Amino acid sequence: MTAKPLLLFVSAHDNADPWVAELKAQLPEVEVRVWPDCPDKAAVDYALVWKPPAGLLATLPNLKVIFSLGAGVDGLLADPALPDRPLVRMVEPGLTEGMTEYVCLHVLRWHRDSPLWEQQQRDRVWKQSAHVPLARERRVGVMGLGALGSDAAAMLAALRFDVAGWSRSPKDIPGVKGFHGADQLPAFLARTEILVCLLPATAETDGLLDAGLFAGLPRDAVVINASRGQVLVEEDLLAALDSGHLRGATLDVFRTEPLPPDHPFWTHPKVTITPHVAAITQARTGVQQVVDGFRRHQAGQPLVNLVDRSRGY
Ligand code: NAP
Ligand code: GLV
Repeated sequence: MTAKPLLLFVSAHDNADPWVAELKAQLPEVEVRVWPDCPDKAAVDYALVWKPPAGLLATLPNLKVIFSLGAGVDGLLADPALPDRPLVRMVEPGLTEGMTEYVCLHVLRWHRDSPLWEQQQRDRVWKQSAHVPLARERRVGVMGLGALGSDAAAMLAALRFDVAGWSRSPKDIPGVKGFHGADQLPAFLARTEILVCLLPATAETDGLLDAGLFAGLPRDAVVINASRGQVLVEEDLLAALDSGHLRGATLDVFRTEPLPPDHPFWTHPKVTITPHVAAITQARTGVQQVVDGFRRHQAGQPLVNLVDRSRGY
């Protein structure tokens, strides 16, 4: 009897149980092991990973495909020893729906001035606004129109926001005005009152959200970053908030995670922080994607959601 293919699950989080249960239920033809329980590294055919120890994947000589538990693969690509094997990133409905919920929540929160009303409640102040704009009067801009950004932009449009999106290549999303490339970035920024960043962290996007970009946004704009901390220059954001140019920011991701206890974001009155929870890969639907990739690979068919290493996403 030939041995079953072996899949090694490696996660920096203490979350193996639901994944192993789903893998066993959905992929009975595979043997699953959870790192560091791996007596024979040469037996590993597939790896499903989130923040594996640097260098680990290079020690698996017969590895065929690397599946990322996350949509973002910047952490994996930062490993200089990452083996040259197909790298499949996570695209699954749970992650997409979760991100769209997060984006709509925080866009609506700033759109409807909730941080102001929450402060007024703490101060026992009863002071109304002369004008409460409708979503159709609010211009939202989504940077990154991939699996996550395109769904979030479409849902914001369904909520009647005046939505634009910016990506590398042109997109055609109903209800979303399309901008693309560096040339069209200034026009996209100039019409954006609430900016949502869903770009991957790459060499090109590193530090893209900086003082120059904030200066291109209208006064009182808001920045929501749910992509990666590397995309944002934190000191420039603080300066733009403190100067009064920006009204506020919601940040889910940071250059250093966990966010250090003495970081100025924690106590900044214009900043809302969430601890990298905007969207979490769901075990059931995430494993469905791994099963699809595994079966495609076994059948010699092309893999989908492959990372283009030259682009970095
Ligand atoms: P994706 O499908 O790869 O989409 C990336 C989008 O960004 C694409 O539209 C791409 O343009 C655009 N883009 C990339 N580089 C660009 C550049 N230099 N200029 C302009 N546009 C550029 O990625 P995704 O699945 O939507 O995920 C996006 C990111 O979200 C991930 O990389 C990850 O970092 C982050 N994320 C965060 C959380 C969280 O909990 N906070 C959860 C999941 C994911 P093209 O379409 O033209 O290629
Ligand atoms: C989470 O941050 C992901 O990239 O899936």
